[in-house]
Amino acid sequence: MVVSAHVVQRLRAAGCVFAEDEARLLVDAAADAAALERLVARRVAGVPLEHLLGWAEFAGLRVAVEPGVFVPRQRTEFLAESAVSWAGPGSRVVDLCCGAGAIAAVVAASVPGVRVWASDVDPAAVRCARRTLAGTRAVVCEGDFDAALPAEWRGGSTCWWRTCRMCRVRRSRGCRLRRGGTSRVLR
Ligand SMILES: C[S@@+](CC[C@H](N)C(=O)[O-])C[C@H]1O[C@@H](n2cnc3c(N)ncnc32)[C@H](O)[C@@H]1O
Repeated sequence: MVVSAHVVQRLRAAGCVFAEDEARLLVDAAADAAALERLVARRVAGVPLEHLLGWAEFAGLRVAVEPGVFVPRQRTEFLAESAVSWAGPGSRVVDLCCGAGAIAAVVAASVPGVRVWASDVDPAAVRCARRTLAGTRAVVCEGDFDAALPAEWRGGSTCWWRTCRMCRVRRSRGCRLRRGGTSRVLR
């Protein structure tokens, strides 16, 4: 299917800044004209583009996202790059509150021999992170903060997490990971 000016106009009128790009992505995702119409209608109604596509681009990788799961932000790429610069072969990197697994995915893809562990309390986020990290050696678990972290990982791991006020995850809860390891938080 070709991208029609009408679709672009509808997206632009709904406030999509990159209407042409979004129209192209929606056309690529739609099996036929009826499916495209449904996608455009939902986008115009305010559904995030990434939730319609089922993926978000993050640092050049495709990260799986489904409705209700936080769409990784471009600014978080800085944190992921920072984690990559700290990690080396054999490092243990923990991505707490991993959401769709974006940070873990960048580390796993960029650092040969790194050991990555990611967890989130939300089953939908865990599902997405497992899809994102499929094909890597990263382990994804469901659990409250670091509850599912293997005991032997509690010391000497470098822990990265990006969270927000809504998460109600207090910094003090990272203390268990700090002994023998390091902790980096981006808010
Ligand atoms: C703002 S999102 C960030 C996701 C990811 N780190 C990113 O930057 O894309 C916060 C995530 O923290 C998770 N979360 C909130 N409270 C949590 C808890 N107590 N234990 C584990 N995960 C939690 C949420 O389910 C959500 O996926």
